[in-house]
Amino acid sequence: MSALSDKNDRFHADTSLQDSEGIRRVIREKYAEVAISAKDKFSYPTGKIGAETLGYDFYLIQQAPSNLLESFCGVGNPFSLGEIRPGARVLDFGCGAGFDLYVSGHLVGDSGLVCGVDLTREMIDRTMENLNGAGVTNYELKQIDAEEIPYPENFFDVVISNGVINLSPFKLACFREIYRILKPGGRVQFADVVLEQDLPAEMKDSLEAWSH
Ligand SMILES: C[S@@+](CC[C@H](N)C(=O)[O-])C[C@H]1O[C@@H](n2cnc3c(N)ncnc32)[C@H](O)[C@@H]1O
Repeated sequence: MSALSDKNDRFHADTSLQDSEGIRRVIREKYAEVAISAKDKFSYPTGKIGAETLGYDFYLIQQAPSNLLESFCGVGNPFSLGEIRPGARVLDFGCGAGFDLYVSGHLVGDSGLVCGVDLTREMIDRTMENLNGAGVTNYELKQIDAEEIPYPENFFDVVISNGVINLSPFKLACFREIYRILKPGGRVQFADVVLEQDLPAEMKDSLEAWSH
């Protein structure tokens, strides 16, 4: 059974298929713009200042081409949660414009593999340009249309994700897929946004609010 068709796994049981298509549409519209630049699109620091604020490696920030940092809109630093070793296979779920893949590429080295999946075609295109420009060669990128991750089970050592799972109406399906593709003993290191209180009704019913 596919992750998406398992209705019992929906975190938001009241999200209809039609709503979920609308949610993906508004997210893609927003992140197609962010693929050009994240400047002034969020209420938190993004780009180079965002990466510095979140404590990313100073040297890697300095070495990164400016294009690579321009669309960075992570909400935390997944690399602060555990060591990623040379030779590891890493998946970035919702890779955006590729800054975390660039960092992963440096950590895993030539014997490792970094893979990115994202809902937004423009982000995947931008990542490809960015990684080529940064000299990262050991990568694969795939655009996805739903929460299914197009990799076999037991494939990755580490899954990272930064500011993505909050954007999915199928959060449990995301975690099931991540669990499926991780090797036994593999790790998920993710940063995300959580609600601390109920949303006001007008926001709860707003498709646009999903992309904020
Ligand atoms: C806040 S941005 C973070 C991007 C990147 N991780 C970073 O740190 O810069 C969220 C990204 O998640 C992608 N996204 C949203 N929902 C997704 C889903 N269900 N599956 C995969 N990617 C998704 C968006 O297209 C966007 O690129």
